[in-house]
Amino acid sequence: MKIGIDKIGFYAPHLYVDMNKLAVQRNVEPEKFTIGIGQEKMSLAPITQDPVTLAANAALEILDEEDREAIDFVIFGTESGIDSSKSAGVYVHDLLGLNPYARAIEVKQACYGATAGIQMAKGHIALNPQSKVLVLGSDIARYGLNTPGEATQGAGAVAMVISADPNILVLEDQSVYFTTDIMDFWRPIYSDKAFVDGKLSNEQYISFFSKVWEQYKSKTGLGLNDFEAICYHLPYTKMGLKALRTVLDEGTEEVRERLTNNYTISTSYNRNVGNIYTASLYLSLLSLLEQKDDLATGSRIGLFSYGSGAVGEFFTGILQPNYKDHLHVDNHSSLFSLRREVTVSEYEEIFEETLPTDGSTFKLDVDNDPASICLAGMADDKRLYINKLK
Ligand code: COA
Repeated sequence: MKIGIDKIGFYAPHLYVDMNKLAVQRNVEPEKFTIGIGQEKMSLAPITQDPVTLAANAALEILDEEDREAIDFVIFGTESGIDSSKSAGVYVHDLLGLNPYARAIEVKQACYGATAGIQMAKGHIALNPQSKVLVLGSDIARYGLNTPGEATQGAGAVAMVISADPNILVLEDQSVYFTTDIMDFWRPIYSDKAFVDGKLSNEQYISFFSKVWEQYKSKTGLGLNDFEAICYHLPYTKMGLKALRTVLDEGTEEVRERLTNNYTISTSYNRNVGNIYTASLYLSLLSLLEQKDDLATGSRIGLFSYGSGAVGEFFTGILQPNYKDHLHVDNHSSLFSLRREVTVSEYEEIFEETLPTDGSTFKLDVDNDPASICLAGMADDKRLYINKLK
């Protein structure tokens, strides 16, 4: 049975910071951020957006009534979840008005969560071919003001419908995954900001890619020349390039050029959004599909997922006929063009805003947020969401 990505949606908040201006304020040469790290703009979540609303807004763009009935499993990958107990999937299930005869869960393993979700979805569809699974990757990446990780923050979500006979990408069965216990990045439950050993995380990312790639080749007999493109988890756009460069020598000159060009295209959205942890790999896939206009049906696309701590996986998909008809390129180009730039001091203020932790009632002004689904406030330690379309 063919199983894979039938629909893919994306949402990022309406605010962003220009990396050149952030660099000037931090006394760093702008080229360090724009070339050395490879980021132009960084999405910023206002207090009215959290990982639940970002994911719900991403899903809103792709779901129709038939999906709402057929989806019987919601898998929410995140590492910036809002509750240690209740899953973000349950909130989204309600906000989107999905069939109540469904499962809704949250999956955590750093930036790998949505990939775990996709693989679980694949198994679920194999057992229940009529059903559809909504897989969400949604995060707000926070390292803190004036930290080395600051330039690699971001906010946004990708939503995917996984089904049999998908319209966009059929996921192939062979995949290679690898786990080792390392402390390259973590976030204790008492902290709203990540702790990171940046150099170690860079090294481990490359090392995990090398391990799963070598194993993939020996398991499948396939090699670099069999790929139209490889999409990477992108904590920042230079990271995937470093990994790609380690294998480019394995291809012919034509393949090297193709993979390098397609890599650049696959980073275009990420370069303007920043790190969105669980959703970064899928935002890269979306960039490639939406910004490249001549990918042939049947092309094989590689996907490298890495979640610090750490789990890595290399898996692949085959592009389906007329996949372009099932994308939302116009929505995304207006999403980007309607965003508002904030100054660095506005960003710092928004970054430090917090919700009450004493159970008090707190109302937020959702009129300043153009998103359909927003966090409207808190009362009795409960988050109150609003879907303006309902
Ligand atoms: N022009 C062009 N490039 C410049 C530059 C300039 N003026 N100044 C510096 N650079 C380059 C550096 O050479 C380096 O490139 P390289 O990695 O290819 O050698 C890059 O910019 C980053 O500089 P570096 O000094 O390594 O940055 P840093 O130590 O301040 O922080 C990270 C970089 C990624 C470690 C940091 O942002 C971080 O910890 N991020 C969070 C963790 C993360 O994203 N990990 C990824 C794996 S999951």
